[in-house]
Amino acid sequence: MSHVAPCNDAELALVLGIEGWLAREEIALLMACAARVPAAQAIVEVGNYRGRSTVALALGARRGQGARVYSIDPHAECVGPRGGRFGHEDQAHLYANLTRAGVGGGVNVVSLGSLAVAAGWAGPPVGLLFVDGDHRYAAVRADLEAWKGHLASGAAVLFDDCDFPDVARLVRERLTAGELDERGAAGKVRWFQAGDGASPPLPAPLATAPAAPAPPG
Ligand SMILES: C[S@@+](CC[C@H](N)C(=O)[O-])C[C@H]1O[C@@H](n2cnc3c(N)ncnc32)[C@H](O)[C@@H]1O
Repeated sequence: MSHVAPCNDAELALVLGIEGWLAREEIALLMACAARVPAAQAIVEVGNYRGRSTVALALGARRGQGARVYSIDPHAECVGPRGGRFGHEDQAHLYANLTRAGVGGGVNVVSLGSLAVAAGWAGPPVGLLFVDGDHRYAAVRADLEAWKGHLASGAAVLFDDCDFPDVARLVRERLTAGELDERGAAGKVRWFQAGDGASPPLPAPLATAPAAPAPPG
């Protein structure tokens, strides 16, 4: 998609100012993939925490073709498998960050678990699925299973924390099964294409930057 301009430093700085664990090059990859999604398709994010990835996706979509972001997180009190603590107060930070970034109008925040939202999904076909919720194997698998029936042909599927063994296992299995084609990676985020895999890969969105500290999610 040569018409997609790379993200600029101001946008990256804005996103990096939001609490979270995505590194610069990971943010750039999310933005570039979001920019490719047609306006008639949805960008679905599973797990938003305080909105670092949400703002990246929304800025990318706005720069690209204007797809709407559906950002899903129950914001229930929980401790992630890496020790990260999540809960109700994250939701207030999320809304504040979306507002500060000026992207609230492009994001539907859904405060429920991913599986419940997928079960009742009545939105557009999903052109980009970003999986960054519960990283335990059964949960990641359930997220992918729940959403795969809603994916548009050739949709992008991105997983964060591919360095975490449970996520790595799921990705490995689905690659072996031929369900996903790998298209690229940045840091711990890997980008796949579902279905026919016919779409060409994106150009490298940005030079690599130092990796972020290990995420607690
Ligand atoms: C690592 S954080 C997400 C970070 C965020 N994507 C970012 O890059 O800034 C993981 C989030 O997943 C959420 N989560 C846990 N279970 C979930 C589920 N079933 N559906 C959606 N989100 C879930 C947690 O509440 C937490 O906010």
